[in-house]
Amino acid sequence: MNENRRTIILGIETSCDETSAAVVENGTTVLSNVISSQMDIHRKFGGVVPEVASRRHVERITLIIEKALQDAKVSLEEVDGIAVTQGPGLVGALLIGVAAAKAISFATGKPLIPVHHIAGHIYANHLVQPLSFPLVALVVSGGHTELIYMEEHNQFQLLGKTRDDAAGEAFDKVARLMNLPYPGGPHIDRLAATGTPEYDLPRAWLEPDSLDFSFSGLKSAVMNLVNNARQRGEEINEANLAASFQEAVLEVLIEKAMRAVHQTGAKHLLLAGGVSANKGLRKHLQERAGQEGIRLQMPPLELCTDNAAMIAAAGTYQLLDGKTAGLTLNADANLPLIREN
Ligand code: KG4
Ligand code: ZN
Repeated sequence: MNENRRTIILGIETSCDETSAAVVENGTTVLSNVISSQMDIHRKFGGVVPEVASRRHVERITLIIEKALQDAKVSLEEVDGIAVTQGPGLVGALLIGVAAAKAISFATGKPLIPVHHIAGHIYANHLVQPLSFPLVALVVSGGHTELIYMEEHNQFQLLGKTRDDAAGEAFDKVARLMNLPYPGGPHIDRLAATGTPEYDLPRAWLEPDSLDFSFSGLKSAVMNLVNNARQRGEEINEANLAASFQEAVLEVLIEKAMRAVHQTGAKHLLLAGGVSANKGLRKHLQERAGQEGIRLQMPPLELCTDNAAMIAAAGTYQLLDGKTAGLTLNADANLPLIREN
């Protein structure tokens, strides 16, 4: 990064149910990070309704971008590039952010920077402390569960991923089964802290060397347990069930993340994505990393879930590498993080 010149990036994120715009300086300093959550709207439906999300993004996006610039006291002329989440996510939702970014890029002549949502989650950590390479990132969110190896900025190597449900998705589905509000992750987290993991639930280790994950079997096991208990008229101890489920998820996440660190020889482990807000995961991962002498970096709670500052941070390094796009850029609901050559 050129020390003498400020690089100012406007970030835009609309991949799911948060409309967010942010201004970040030199890839590290958050000048503003405005997040408008639609959670209250979607809660009534027990999950994100794509059409409702898109409409809400359309209504909010201009206002949110203006507020981000105002809060940062930065004009569009001072911005060096517009970073936007290109994917993955809900296509209708992504399109709103991409269209807004393209319009600003066209009007100002500033570069358009397409950012992968997961790269954004990883770079949320960079806003607190610069990334140290080589690193392994454990990315756990509502749509993703991945282990990624990075040797330097912008280089992502996929080590393992979920073969079915994402970790956050499993939290949300189990919470729904327990009649907890959407999104269920934080509720399970809270309940788990008050329970003991006395229910016997499966862990999917898969093949001995595999760094992949699978959570659908665990989800089905919880479903069977709850249904059987209901049929027999037995009461389920909710706190103990939450604790048992959470322990089953965390055990596999932590074990595989440590395995990935040892296999790659990385010195740093980084946590990213919405599920990194989980208190149990933060505590146990910290303990384990400490025991094994691995430096662990975790995003602060406010940067765990979707926000545009992380997109701007990732976009800063893409701009430095010349990874920009033309005005033909399209949203891609299934955008891969690593492109096959
Ligand atoms: O990263 P994010 O905001 O959106 C995606 O990119 O998917 O992650 C949202 C996910 C939801 O599944 C939510 O339940 C989960 O993160 N989550 C949690 C916690 N806080 C949010 N899961 C477990 N424990 C938490 N404390
Ligand atoms: Zn996310």
